[in-house]
Amino acid sequence: MATIAFELDGRTVEVPDLGTNLLVALREQLGVRSVKDGCSPQGQCGCCTVLVDGAPRVACVTPVRRIAGRSVRTVDGLDSDVRDGWAEAFCANGASQCGFCTPGIIVRLEGLRAKRGDRVDDVAVERALAAHLCRCTGWQTIVEAALDLPERSGERDLRAADRRATIEGGIPQRVEPDVALGRAGFADDTAPADALVALPDADGGWVVAESLHEAQEAASKVQGRRTTLPISWPIDVPAGEWAATLRTTWVEPGYLEPDASWCEPGGTPAPPLANGGAFGAKVDSEVGAVARRLADEHGRAVRVLLPREATVRRGPKRPPVAGGIRADGSGQLRVARTPGISAAIATVAPQLDVVEVDVAGPPTSLALRAAGWAEAMVLGSALTPAGPVEVADPGGGRAVAEIVEGRIRVEVSCGDVLDEVVVRSYVIGAAHQALGWVTSEALTVDDEGEVHDLTIRSFGIVRPADLWPVDVVIDDTDRGEPVRASDAAFVAVAAALWRVGGCPPSLPTELELP
Ligand code: FES
Repeated sequence: MATIAFELDGRTVEVPDLGTNLLVALREQLGVRSVKDGCSPQGQCGCCTVLVDGAPRVACVTPVRRIAGRSVRTVDGLDSDVRDGWAEAFCANGASQCGFCTPGIIVRLEGLRAKRGDRVDDVAVERALAAHLCRCTGWQTIVEAALDLPERSGERDLRAADRRATIEGGIPQRVEPDVALGRAGFADDTAPADALVALPDADGGWVVAESLHEAQEAASKVQGRRTTLPISWPIDVPAGEWAATLRTTWVEPGYLEPDASWCEPGGTPAPPLANGGAFGAKVDSEVGAVARRLADEHGRAVRVLLPREATVRRGPKRPPVAGGIRADGSGQLRVARTPGISAAIATVAPQLDVVEVDVAGPPTSLALRAAGWAEAMVLGSALTPAGPVEVADPGGGRAVAEIVEGRIRVEVSCGDVLDEVVVRSYVIGAAHQALGWVTSEALTVDDEGEVHDLTIRSFGIVRPADLWPVDVVIDDTDRGEPVRASDAAFVAVAAALWRVGGCPPSLPTELELP
């Protein structure tokens, strides 16, 4: 078989010419794990960005044949001082949470710095970041890390930071500089090189093959696309005389690391939640059980991967709602039938009559960030006086949010802070998600319940240049048990934005917010 030779991180390598893209060559043939696959081959998330002859390129849309004789540099191949400087800056600023998106971002930012030297400002950074998606951080801390390099540091207890990240993310997490370099131990990075690869097929089963390339060829994937169908609101507001009404559409959690697991026969599957909570969306992911079953069936280790399109079609969403509230606080909230949702709403709004309805669409889950109670509190905020919105998370965290002259101001109280950088990072990320949820995020689902938006850029996630600045104030006088701050921040910011927009009856609203 013909081969293709190129320079990878300073050494010459050669791969069989299988007609694949550069991402497959790097990850599958050369074992480079820092280059991540968040949406391939859509070329939209930026997680597989590398430098080709010094210029940033998205590897999943770059044919490997076009790389012959050229130089490819990944985050692993940056000079160690440079690479460690970026990793320290990202960690010190809270610019990396799960760490799946950041190797690609660092590569692009280093390409920018190498080209423009000291002439890198926030506008240049935001423009560079437009080619990337980060769902955890809300961008602001990434811009700060990019501009502060390599100065920011200070005394921190990173094990306390781990604890705080674990509370905010909902699953065990690690805070270290090397997380920003993509070394958090994602399931698809730790699988044995000789594992079989399983991908979902078009009939609801699994294609199992010797390599990812072979599995892709056999799986006849549903190609991602952005639909031209309009979004819809699956539940009608109940009839009645209401002081305010609210209905929500489908939204995609949009976590960057697609579901992945692997397992040895008779073994314990690698968890798909390596270093990110996916905002609750992966709690019930199917991939671990599938990996175990297929490994047992085949008598070999099996990697199970969901391509981006499959994560969108199969993954859980927050339950859509529609409801109305009267001036005395009573009212009705109709919500897509979801185990536990009525009780979750009752904890914050016992005066609301909750009616669960059957809705055709993707699965829903109570585990999604503040599902149900966020919607109830946003609706209820229509009755509170103008000014800051205060939200108490049933889990104990508190947040007060206000929109002041185009800035989002959030004050949080979360017991023992443990690590201010991590709290701030998660609160900014939550504010970013709230901004998207209120203003732009939607997933088109037709009347039969089929999801039509399958590309990661079609979910309406707010771009870095469009994010409002977030000012975070952390109550450090509370020495109580540490509790999660980011869910309360998400709800308080969403309510504050909704009110600034005049309490529009449908989310997302296309209102231009002041
Ligand atoms: Fe960017 Fe998680 S840190 S997606």
